[in-house]
Amino acid sequence: MSVVGLIGGSGAALYPAASKIQAHNAKTLWGQPSAPVKCWTQQGHELCFLSRHGENHVIPPHRINYRANIQALADMGVDFIIAMNAVGGIAKSAKPGVLVIPDQLIDYTWGRFHTYFDSHKDKVNFTDFTRPYDGKLSKLLVNAAHTEKLPVVAGGTYAVTQGPRLETAAEIDRLERDGCTIVGMTAMPEAALASELSLPYISCSSVVNYAAGRSDAAIHSEIEAFLKLGVQHSAQLINRFLQDL
Ligand code: HPA
Repeated sequence: MSVVGLIGGSGAALYPAASKIQAHNAKTLWGQPSAPVKCWTQQGHELCFLSRHGENHVIPPHRINYRANIQALADMGVDFIIAMNAVGGIAKSAKPGVLVIPDQLIDYTWGRFHTYFDSHKDKVNFTDFTRPYDGKLSKLLVNAAHTEKLPVVAGGTYAVTQGPRLETAAEIDRLERDGCTIVGMTAMPEAALASELSLPYISCSSVVNYAAGRSDAAIHSEIEAFLKLGVQHSAQLINRFLQDL
């Protein structure tokens, strides 16, 4: 049995949690996480679910207390973390409705509390972040998507932008030149903090819109149209993943 940390993003309220939920109002060294952590048993594993933007989706990406969120899950003894992310698609393969399991990221964010090693009392700690996403668990996630016949892109680079505004078309062109596949606002510093606590971390990113300048459709109508499907696909994928774990 594993204890699995699951972080819900936009659309988290649509995630079909099991019944018999125990909620924990965690407090950490770094303050309060975005929401109470809800726990339930699924496929023989214990799930600890945390809604990144808060229960009513009120915390914007740059204001999330990422340190408290990751610490709260660590304090509950999770073995690893699955992050759910709603993202825009930059690469042609990353169409709305598709799931992407990224294997790399580029951090374009600024001014966020991004490290646990922030004191001059500790020894300077340079965390190895060569591979931000756990390879073995990501592979299991991709295999689960294949088993469930879900549309999936295996691998790709997640561009993490500051938000909360969406990007300009020129910014997306630049991210494409940088080699990015998808764009979102929340993978960092989340992934790095997990790494600092030696917690394996993976992402199930669901594409909910074409990135700016990549389609004639209005971005917000696309997001509205694809968010629910993305959460449903992610839930189906995670259920199979847990079965295979
Ligand atoms: N850009 C940044 N973040 C996002 C997007 C996007 O197009 N879609 C969903 N989250």
